[in-house]
Amino acid sequence: MSKIQAWAAPAAKKSLAKIEYEPGPLDAEEVEVAVEHCGVCHSDLSVLNNDWGMSTYPFVPGHEAVGKVVAVGERAKGVKVGQRVGIGWNAGSCMHCRLCLSGDQNLCAKAQPTIVGHHGGFAERMRSHWAWTIPLPDAIDMTSTGPLLCGGITVFAPFLNYGIKPSDRVGVVGIGGLGHMGIKFAAAWGCEVTAFTSSDSKHDEARGFGAHNVVSSTNSSAVKKLAGTLDLLLVTVNVPLDWGAMLGSVAPKGRMHVVGAVLQPIPVRAFDLIMASRSISGSPTGSPVAIATMLDFAARHDIAPQVEHFPMSKANEAIAHLEAGKARYRIVLDADFK
Ligand SMILES: NC(=O)c1ccc[n+]([C@@H]2O[C@H](COP(=O)([O-])OP(=O)(O)OC[C@H]3O[C@@H](n4cnc5c(N)ncnc54)[C@H](OP(=O)(O)O)[C@@H]3O)[C@@H](O)[C@H]2O)c1
Ligand SMILES: [Zn+2]
Ligand SMILES: [Zn+2]
Repeated sequence: MSKIQAWAAPAAKKSLAKIEYEPGPLDAEEVEVAVEHCGVCHSDLSVLNNDWGMSTYPFVPGHEAVGKVVAVGERAKGVKVGQRVGIGWNAGSCMHCRLCLSGDQNLCAKAQPTIVGHHGGFAERMRSHWAWTIPLPDAIDMTSTGPLLCGGITVFAPFLNYGIKPSDRVGVVGIGGLGHMGIKFAAAWGCEVTAFTSSDSKHDEARGFGAHNVVSSTNSSAVKKLAGTLDLLLVTVNVPLDWGAMLGSVAPKGRMHVVGAVLQPIPVRAFDLIMASRSISGSPTGSPVAIATMLDFAARHDIAPQVEHFPMSKANEAIAHLEAGKARYRIVLDADFK
């Protein structure tokens, strides 16, 4: 295999620069994909800045990649050369632990994040285990699909995992990359949807994505007016909020589900859980089957992220745009390697 061109940061908080790396021989169970488009998730920014203390450098971001298979290892199954595929947060897992064998590969202790200790999709080509190289449905448009592979599955998986019903009331907190997809999925699922945003300018668009109500996420008295009403409250922000008011908006037997990487502890009053039999939970992305299920659902319901395109050679500008909170609502980089 020839060298791979990619955009990489040499150290935390540094700009990306073009590099070439030698991928070595293709593993028997690996697949190599020519990247066409790659979404920019807030997690790319957090790993670039080493906010989670687990980054490795040189760091090639990109875990919402779509493209075509260019090579398959001799024991790779399920995908063939030329096929349209996507790769999300994980590029592999052990495939033999209890979690992997139970279909919970995203919970595998040895799951290989695509952008930690592995080179991601801000590149002309990238690699992943065949099981984590997800075939795309024919009906899906490649140019806007990338963000479904991480952001999309992260907000979709709770609907599968917790048996959310069309009659349920769902709140989505933070209308960014994840949140706007969360509104679209919740609306297509049939739910009554309340969007929580700190940005006045997003109210109309949140309704356009399918929200029935829009509330300020930073106005405690507005949040408190919803006390006891939401069956699922999906939190996608990565900042502290008035957690007492947020949990209070959850209905009896409901759940506050945290997918945003809030670094500060979330305080919880035991009686807020006990008296209404509420739960708090969290989850990381989803399994390969959950991702495939989500892609089928998105294709069937014509759900696509609302994206802004940047050429991949403008990856630094794209990251700055995301960091400034200006992305509406997900950035997709289009590969433009010579
Ligand atoms: N669990 C997982 O598997 C998983 C997967 C992917 C991403 N993540 C994490 O999920 C989080 C969101 O990712 P993303 O790509 O959707 O990020 P994003 O596009 O930057 O969206 C985050 C949203 O949070 C809200 N927000 C930001 N600062 C705020 C503040 N000071 N006060 C109130 N709200 C604020 C904003 O929405 P409003 O303007 O509407 O307030 C913003 O659009 C990140 O922490 C990311 O690492 C987790
Ligand atoms: Zn992500
Ligand atoms: Zn495993």
